[in-house]
Amino acid sequence: MSAVVIVGAQWGDEGKGKVVDFCTEFADVVVRYAGGPNAGHTLVVGDEKVIVRLIPSGILREGTRCVLGQGMVVDPSVLIGEIDTLEGRGYAGLAARLTVSDRAHLILPYHVLVDSLREGGKGAIGTTKKGIGPAYEDKVRRTGVRAGDLRDLGRLRARVEAALEAWLPTITHLGGRAPSAAELMEPMVPLAERIVPMLDNASKLVDDAIRAGRRVMLEGAQGTLLDIDHGTYPFVTSSNAVAGGAAVGSGIGPNRISTVLGITKAYTTRVGAGPFPTELDDRDGQHLREVGAEFGSVTGRPRRTGWLDLPALRYAARVNGLDGLALTKLDVLTGMDRLKVCVGYDTPAGRTSEFPIDLLDVPGVLPVYQELAGWTEHLGEYRTLDELPSTARAYIRFLEEGAGVPVYFLSVGPRRRETIVLHNPFVGRAAAP
Ligand code: IMP
Repeated sequence: MSAVVIVGAQWGDEGKGKVVDFCTEFADVVVRYAGGPNAGHTLVVGDEKVIVRLIPSGILREGTRCVLGQGMVVDPSVLIGEIDTLEGRGYAGLAARLTVSDRAHLILPYHVLVDSLREGGKGAIGTTKKGIGPAYEDKVRRTGVRAGDLRDLGRLRARVEAALEAWLPTITHLGGRAPSAAELMEPMVPLAERIVPMLDNASKLVDDAIRAGRRVMLEGAQGTLLDIDHGTYPFVTSSNAVAGGAAVGSGIGPNRISTVLGITKAYTTRVGAGPFPTELDDRDGQHLREVGAEFGSVTGRPRRTGWLDLPALRYAARVNGLDGLALTKLDVLTGMDRLKVCVGYDTPAGRTSEFPIDLLDVPGVLPVYQELAGWTEHLGEYRTLDELPSTARAYIRFLEEGAGVPVYFLSVGPRRRETIVLHNPFVGRAAAP
């Protein structure tokens, strides 16, 4: 009677799409608990790439119920657009398998407008410009519009008008033009018609599923270091991406969660501004970007690349309570002569093995590296740990010991079959009755 959380252990883009997609084979219910269309999950199905931003990855599997939890911010037009795109690719009947929490907040055009206007100015932090921050601001300011408001167009209009009034000074100050409530409502009517049948009390649905012994997966978005509380503030997203957010964002008690799986790449990437101590600006960084195809799936921006940061991983292990790791993109390191791993930090106060998260921009705070040998073999065909080159195994062991967390899944290529399973937290659980 429990749920498994899957959470990004770095700055997002850890390869959650593939791991979540792999795990959904074992899950009856998949719930997204935070964020919105700022997430981009690239799924490789056969040889076809499918990108989903809002809908949980499990939607591609018939028989899996997918839930957009109340911790999310949902852009109605993106949601309907995704359903239509996937249905156009032959995945039929998606709406019937999709539940939207009636407490999830809506991203409306004025949120996207404010996000874009701000990103054009001095305080830009490199957001995805999808309206995420402004929608969460509305939620906290108590002027938000929730998915449940779509059930009553009169109430919806009143809430939109109140929110517009609250945003007007900001939009004017930023040099934008606020849309009128009438302009906003016109496209909302057909969207509401399609979304209302998907609305439900998601908290009860998820809790009931757990009580009935169904296998529930709580799918995180972004990553630990982008979490509003535990990330590299202010260069963060606006929600709790960490595992603790899974209980709040899906509406279940924390004691319903049995396992937390953290996802980490074998190196590090980041998109957007903010500190990144192990960042590389040389041929190694270029290798990681090109071989790893490190370009944002939502924005197309080239990702910043760098070495693995073990203090950061240990930090993620602590704030999430990680039980196991899914280590992704190990294959991308093939062909690099020597690999560096950050094992600690030099700070003005001395050397530390802790991740100095609030001091990363202080002069003199610098990563300390240890070098490990690389390998030249292509890893994609290996199916067991023992087959891997000894230097790759040594790299994995070093990572496990440094993070203090064992590797459960090892990804050696983008395809589903290019995965080595060392421990599957879903196996041994009851399947759907
Ligand atoms: P926002 O979530 O669009 O407000 O962006 C805030 C920060 O989080 C920016 O640095 C974004 O690049 C980053 N971010 C948001 N979503 C993702 C993601 O899914 N992967 C990686 N970075 C993300």
